This record gives sequence, C-alpha cells and structure tokens, in this order.
Amino acid sequence: MVKLFEKAVFRGVELNNRIVVSPMGMYSAENGYVTPFHLVHYGKFAMGGAGLVFVEQTSVTRKGRITNGDPGLWEDGQIEGMRQVVHVIKAHGSKAAIQINHGGRKSSQQRAFRGNGPLTDRDIEMGEERWTPTGPSDVPTPTPSRPCWSVSRPRKVPSVRSVRMPALRAASAARPTMRPSRPTTSGGNPGTSTSWPTFGPPVSSCRG
Ligand SMILES: Cc1cc2nc3c(=O)[nH]c(=O)nc-3n(C[C@H](O)[C@H](O)[C@H](O)COP(=O)(O)O)c2cc1C
Repeated sequence: MVKLFEKAVFRGVELNNRIVVSPMGMYSAENGYVTPFHLVHYGKFAMGGAGLVFVEQTSVTRKGRITNGDPGLWEDGQIEGMRQVVHVIKAHGSKAAIQINHGGRKSSQQRAFRGNGPLTDRDIEMGEERWTPTGPSDVPTPTPSRPCWSVSRPRKVPSVRSVRMPALRAASAARPTMRPSRPTTSGGNPGTSTSWPTFGPPVSSCRG
C-alpha cells in the first residue's frame, strides 16, 4: 500500500510526504537569473504541501542552456536569487532539490512556449540570443518524434570533461542553498520568520 501522505527519508532528508514536484523548465529566467516569477511559481508548490520541490533544469554554463529562459548557476550573482527561491520553498515546510543541467546538442532552442524548435530570425528580433551548441557529437538533434528540434550542427566537444568543472561549480553553488535546515514554521507565514532574507533589488535587474 502506497503511503502518499506519510513521511519519507532519503539519505537523511526527511520529507513531510511523498509528493514530489518534478523538475519542469519554465523558460522564464533572464540571463540565467531567476525572477520574482520563480518565487511565486515554486512557492505555490510548497504552499500546496508537496514534500519535495525540484527546481527546473538549471544550466551549468551559459552556452549549456537549452533556451534563453533557462536559469543557471554559472556565475556567483545567480546564487542569491536561487537562495531566495529555496527559502520560499523551505519556509513552507517543503524540501528543495535542483536539477543541474547541460543542454548539449539540445542547446540554443526556442523557449517551449515560443515553439520548442530552432530559434528563428523573429526570435532574434525579439531579443533572443542564438549560439552554437556543444555536445558529445556533432549530429544535429532532430528525432522522428520531434522534428522541430532540428538545429544547426553542434560543435563536438572531445569529452564530458569540459563540463565537469562547471557542473561541479554549479552543484557546489546550489548545495548550501538546498541543504536541509532546521524545520521552519510549516505552513506559517514566512513574513514572520526570523530567517527570512532581505529581498534586494529585483533579480530581473541583472540586465540593467
Ligand atoms: C512544462 C514541463 C517542463 C519540464 N521540464 C523538465 C525539466 O526541466 N527537466 C526534466 O528532467 N524534465 C522536465 N519535464 C519532464 C517532467 O519532469 C516529468 O518527468 C514528465 O512530465 C513526466 O512526468 P509524469 O510521468 O509524472 O507525467 C518537464 C515537463 C513539463 C510538462
């Protein structure tokens, strides 16, 4: 019998229940920086009571992003916004996790809500950036089921070694923010929490 609403412990991390929100790309970051959108988006899952909330695939390098809207952890400035997202999740009693990602041959695509295909000239006019993806082979990415994923030939990288250091760096940037902390006031108003961080200027100001 599945005990959906019972606690579960994974590697010493206790979840209030077994409801896990899987990583789901929202394509709404700016230059790899999370925005207030992410605070609301992830906060609402925690407020809904999920035991574990995964933050969407988060890129370890700028060129490893699948789309222009992917969050990243390739530079230090991106950590604070992510820390705030994690705080919102934890302040409501959920645990936070993250999916660290390099898009490889899938990089440099349209945001899903703009077509999920190759970036077009219209996308570039709208401010999107296009770059040559790097991946384990130089074979373009179309698949029979998803022909729209056809992209320019990626630049082949000799091995995964080139993303090892960025991946380690991103993981170590994420780790202190994701680490379980003392239980917070589950379901309480985070505004009353003494550990609530001071929100700085909107993270979306990173472009300015
Ligand atoms: C909008 C959306 C975004 C997604 N983004 C990611 C992602 O960032 N990383 C990932 O591994 N899977 C992603 N997925 C796949 C989901 O995490 C999940 O594995 C998939 O929806 C199947 O889950 P289900 O069997 O519970 O329906 C995404 C799915 C959706 C619907």
